[in-house]
Amino acid sequence: MQEKLRQIRERAVQEIASADSLAKLNDVRVAVLGKKGELTAVLKGMKDVSPEDRPRVGQMVNETREAIESALEDTKKKMEALALEHKLKKEVIDVTLPSKRSEAGHAHPNTIALEEVERIFIGMGYEVVEGPEVEYDYYNFEALNIPANHPAKDEQDTFYINNDIVLRTQTSPVQVRVMEQGKLPIRMIAPGRVFRSDEVDATHSPSFHQIEGLVIDKNITFADLKGTLQEFAKELFGADTKVKFRPHHFPFTEPSAEVDVTCFKCGGKGCRFCKGEGWIEILGCGMVHPHVLEMSHIDPKEYTGFAFGVGLERIALLKYEIDDMRLLYENDSRFLSQF
Ligand code: DAH
Repeated sequence: MQEKLRQIRERAVQEIASADSLAKLNDVRVAVLGKKGELTAVLKGMKDVSPEDRPRVGQMVNETREAIESALEDTKKKMEALALEHKLKKEVIDVTLPSKRSEAGHAHPNTIALEEVERIFIGMGYEVVEGPEVEYDYYNFEALNIPANHPAKDEQDTFYINNDIVLRTQTSPVQVRVMEQGKLPIRMIAPGRVFRSDEVDATHSPSFHQIEGLVIDKNITFADLKGTLQEFAKELFGADTKVKFRPHHFPFTEPSAEVDVTCFKCGGKGCRFCKGEGWIEILGCGMVHPHVLEMSHIDPKEYTGFAFGVGLERIALLKYEIDDMRLLYENDSRFLSQF
């Protein structure tokens, strides 16, 4: 018996020592201490041991079991510690590695220019309003003094949804929408997208942007218009900028003018940028036509006003010296990130 227990113990300790995984360790446990294990079998044989020998043999069996159990436990702890160490080594994080940067976008030159224009007019007490891009023919043409057969309709050919509804050709219809609300005085700008059936080239696109301006109050004169736009041009292009008002015709203003600014590149001497002119055209404007006021239920004897329309792309192209409008629509981030 004693010899048998010694054998069991020796073999178990050997197998434990050579086990290279927790699973193998468990195999040893089952083979020795399990229900059908070797030591368990010895224990079951205790009934055949004579009563006077039982305490001694019992103690030997217990010692053997304790020795094997503690060998199992020690080896298990060592294995677990080793596994943890291995895992920690493998999962180490190098905090000195550069992080993955998420690419930030860049404001579009149109957006930068628009925000600049808005800043200037908000500073003069203007409100920024918006109108629909899909617009009634009435607002886009009729209420702006452009009746059905007016030649101005030819210049502003557009996309028709049906006979009464068009993609707006200008932001001027927002003037009418605001005037119709009847809240006076008015001091607003209305930026937005407009459409024309134009072929794409360096200076044209079937879709572009304008910023409309409208002021209606008592005693508004052409002097107010001039002063306002002069201030606007100076803020936008620099304090030395001069403005020139050239008589022009728009159906919804009378008198009307186009405004040129001195070339901010050459200061008016004439250069490649202004095509030798010294002046660059930036917008159309005028005193709101009395008939336009009447159509929107404003009494022209009591109220007068001025309006203007600026091409946003034109401002962006000038300000950032971009020579082809198409670049503004390609959205190549290598181009956009320069502004
Ligand atoms: N809507 C005009 C256009 O697209 C521009 C314009 C001219 C707007 C004169 C105005 C204005 O408000 O008074 O050509």
